[in-house]
Amino acid sequence: MPMPLAVLVSGGGSNLQSILDKIDAGLIDAKVRVVLSNKPGAYGLERARKKGIAAVALPHADFPSREAFDAEMVRVIHAHGVRAETGAVVLAGFMRMLTPAFLRAFPDRVLNIHPALLPSFPGTHGAADAEAYGVRLAGCTVHLVDEIMDHGPVIIQAAVPALPGEGGPALAERILKLEHCIYPQALAWLAAGRLSVADRRVLAAGAEQASCGDAALPYLASPGLEAGFRPA
Ligand code: GRF
Repeated sequence: MPMPLAVLVSGGGSNLQSILDKIDAGLIDAKVRVVLSNKPGAYGLERARKKGIAAVALPHADFPSREAFDAEMVRVIHAHGVRAETGAVVLAGFMRMLTPAFLRAFPDRVLNIHPALLPSFPGTHGAADAEAYGVRLAGCTVHLVDEIMDHGPVIIQAAVPALPGEGGPALAERILKLEHCIYPQALAWLAAGRLSVADRRVLAAGAEQASCGDAALPYLASPGLEAGFRPA
């Protein structure tokens, strides 16, 4: 059975779209059962509706506490058949910290994407912060989520060179293109049962050490991106 996924979004949902596209292409053995958002106007919800996927808006301000909000999210996720034993929760631009109770409901089964090479530049403006700092290598990280923001075990990272003078938005755009490769790749490994975790080390069984792009989109990804997940 395809791995049941719940995807949490707060914004445009371009990462959600990249995951849906790779599922449609037969590259990820998974099915998105529900998309949730704390922002009723999030375009990510619309992307789900267009595909006939359940789209649930839960405005966080309607709940008396973070715990109550998260408890309702867990209820909705479970109600759509996504459980820790067989499924996973995918944070794709979800701008809320999750409570310990939420994480206990899905141990080692919540993933996040961050637009920086963690542990550098955690927080809400990773790519812009890296550019402002003047790094020469920027990038993105897919990691398991723990109770500390942008902190859990790393599954895959892709590094992109920062070009002198290009500015934060241009760098963020190139990083986003790589996000759309590494997040589906990580989920493909997860759905295929190829990921294992020990001592913060995540192993993707059978994956190459690293792969590189070309002049059009230079990058270094480790573990390496497999066929179908490299930039088009
Ligand atoms: C991405 O840059 C992601 O790394 C960050 O939020 C952004 C979400 O973009 N966590 P989108 O909504 O997937 O287009």
